[in-house]
Amino acid sequence: MGEIAKLELNGKLYELPVIEGTENEKGIDISSLRAATGGYITLDPGFKNTGSTKSAITYLDGENGILRYRGYPIDQLADNASFLEVSFLIIYGNLPTKVELDQFKESITNHTLVHEDMKQFFEAYPAKAHPMGVLASMICSLSTFYPESLNEDRAPEAKDLTIHRLIAKLPTLAAWSYKNARRHPFMYPNNNFDYCENFLHMMFAMPTSNYEIDSVVVSALNKLLILHAEHEQNCSTSTVRIVGSSHANLYASVSAGISALWGPLHGGANQAVIEMLEKISNDGGNVDKWVAKAKDKNDSFRLMGFGHRVYKNFDPRATIIKKACDEVLVKLGVNDPLLEIAKKLEKVALEDEYFKARNLYPNVDFYSGIIYKAIGIPTEMFTVMFAIGRLPGWIAQWGEMIENKEPIGRPRQIYTGENHRDYVPVEKR
Ligand code: ACO
Repeated sequence: MGEIAKLELNGKLYELPVIEGTENEKGIDISSLRAATGGYITLDPGFKNTGSTKSAITYLDGENGILRYRGYPIDQLADNASFLEVSFLIIYGNLPTKVELDQFKESITNHTLVHEDMKQFFEAYPAKAHPMGVLASMICSLSTFYPESLNEDRAPEAKDLTIHRLIAKLPTLAAWSYKNARRHPFMYPNNNFDYCENFLHMMFAMPTSNYEIDSVVVSALNKLLILHAEHEQNCSTSTVRIVGSSHANLYASVSAGISALWGPLHGGANQAVIEMLEKISNDGGNVDKWVAKAKDKNDSFRLMGFGHRVYKNFDPRATIIKKACDEVLVKLGVNDPLLEIAKKLEKVALEDEYFKARNLYPNVDFYSGIIYKAIGIPTEMFTVMFAIGRLPGWIAQWGEMIENKEPIGRPRQIYTGENHRDYVPVEKR
């Protein structure tokens, strides 16, 4: 007999089963609450205490700074695997065999081109369009080119085709959104390159000149994508699951995830970090002044790249990324003054009572922006890079939700508006 939670309400006792995960995480199953109590619901703004699903994809222990994809520790994957290998693991549940990996890579490589008609969409966007806005629209537009993906009864192979198309085309569309913003000609994918190389080629090569692919840059990019690949029920992933729960197609669901990721409190934080560091630098580099602003409750300024909803000790990805950041800057010979400000900011914040008391540590985005900057990615593309990395996670979570036949996501609310009132014609108001 497992644990049981008891809820006493108006003198009546309700028993609620306790659910236990494979890592002994516990949750009270309240799925029968409303029916049993005659209408009571739970209220949990921001879902801080609410589990929306059971999931077998990612284990995350925020208190102890643990992150594992399908059981494998993030540091082992980041140090040894390729992004496509990790994507396969996350989506299909196990590390691929050599044959499986070769087939997966080949399929992805064969789908990197996007339909020529899609190029015309880009031309309609103004040069100042933020690439995240362009990317979200382009990914949703893919569904119009593959209408068979709207069919819910698709065979597994057809589902795989959609998945492979998405993974293959996202970097192409991402790089083209950048080229378009510069009004530079698009570079087509090159099937001789691997996933990361190809993206760098489409971003930085020109018809007039090749881009010299640097292995240090490729390896840093590979690591960054792995670190971002999956993170259980975060804002964008929950968005993908909830949109997909209405049986909207995968392209539409991922497009919604991209939009959710864009916000500065989520994936947009990597762009916000660099903008913040630049602001501090332009203001004379007085870190203490900006830390004081972040602590001032009358000031809306927050230290971007600090704090996390689930990591209350440290973000294990930030530890890996910090090391990678130091290595990349040394290897590329980049001396970025923003890094000095970042280090000062980190030191002050980690020693300050305000941040210590609230368990606010640097998160993954605090350092990722500095690496992206060092490898030549423009600031407005940082969140796009995050989207490329997070795609396998969104796909896996969407697939799990469909496979588990989860019901449509539809939270309840406690209504606090006006009571019944009768309509009054405008001339009598
Ligand atoms: N700077 C200053 N104070 C902060 C910060 C920060 N970055 N983050 C949280 N706090 C304070 C809050 O003011 C609050 O203080 P209080 O208890 O005195 O009211 C306390 O710490 C708790 O903060 P919440 O906002 O309640 O924490 P929540 O879990 O809701 O938010 C979030 C987490 C959104 C990440 C928040 O820490 C934040 O805004 N950070 C900056 C943006 C950022 O880096 N986002 C990226 C997250 S990682 C990712 O999505 C990939």
